[in-house]
Amino acid sequence: MLTRIDCTTHEEVYRVTDRDSGLEGLIAVHSTQAGPAAGGLRMRVYAGFDEALADVLALSRGMTYKNAAAGLPLGGGKAVILGDPRSDKTEALLRAMGRAVEALQGRYWTAEDMGMTPADLKVLSSETKFVAGLADGPFASGDPSPITAQGVFNALKIGAARQFGSSDLSGKRVAVQGLGHVGWYLCELLAKAGAQLIVADTVAARVEEARVAFGAEVAAPDAIHRVAADVFAPCAIGGILNGQTVPELRAAMVCGAANNQLANDAAADALQARGILYLPDYVANGGGIINVATEILRIEARESYVAERLSQLETTMRGILDAAARQDTSPAHVADATIEQGMALRRAG
Ligand code: NAI
Repeated sequence: MLTRIDCTTHEEVYRVTDRDSGLEGLIAVHSTQAGPAAGGLRMRVYAGFDEALADVLALSRGMTYKNAAAGLPLGGGKAVILGDPRSDKTEALLRAMGRAVEALQGRYWTAEDMGMTPADLKVLSSETKFVAGLADGPFASGDPSPITAQGVFNALKIGAARQFGSSDLSGKRVAVQGLGHVGWYLCELLAKAGAQLIVADTVAARVEEARVAFGAEVAAPDAIHRVAADVFAPCAIGGILNGQTVPELRAAMVCGAANNQLANDAAADALQARGILYLPDYVANGGGIINVATEILRIEARESYVAERLSQLETTMRGILDAAARQDTSPAHVADATIEQGMALRRAG
């Protein structure tokens, strides 16, 4: 059952419940101005409904900005399921969520996010056609993580050129928080480029794998942000740049895949005040949605489309860093302002 929630900042927000499967979830459509809203489905334990609502509202808004930064004809949306993906996920629950997505008739397209796997998406697709990131089928785009990692790596090199005078990463110490889908691929790219890795993950086995595979140094998950490094690459949780962590950073630059890295605007200003270059997360990690978009938009020439958009993303990042340097402000503020101006122009036109 979809119950509409009044919300002035978003086009549509629904509480999604299903008594038979025990589903409790939310779908938020922030904007369809540029096209159908697209953004992943996340399943995780929340402290309560209000926390889940705040998460889905922030994430769906973030998707509007991310899709706009990537130059995609897509708006922003997101869905969440409240529950532990390891113990609460059932086929009936996923199917119920699939029916809810279908009920929006394509105003929202879902995809993979934390707590979801390609196999889960397949289950959803038995109830709705508005799901992308599938492993097989026409226009299937598969796991977006390698493309996300490539985009982050490209951004990291752009940042290095500004901060260290060269995009050459050999010998640079990069602290990677989170060795999941994206973090691992990013480590592969960095190791190949000659960077020295320091890694952390809450899963000890994954850390050990990275230590062996990349000759990486190891740090505790709650200490990785403060190790001696040139670059801090958050690839796990949001809100990692906050009043406590920013003063502790020793890196000269932050560039990673995690969504919503900044806990608030003050964190962006604090980074700027410390001379730490922040590469806006939703520009750096836009590769994933570019990959997913090829499925939603049914792009035939997938590889060239992705390559072209990744290259545009680099141009966008350079433009943001240039403007931020000129204005002596955080690249995060410039990125937001650029996107908001674009949206206002579209509304006016
Ligand atoms: P994932 O779930 O595969 O990996 C996350 C990793 O972080 C896991 O190995 C987990 O054990 C670890 N982790 C969790 N909490 C941690 C902590 N406190 N300290 C250290 N490690 C911790 O997720 P994935 O797909 O790699 O995504 C990583 C981040 O990038 C997420 O914030 C996600 O929203 C974002 N992102 C992912 C995209 C993709 O293509 N997969 C696209 C754009 C953004």
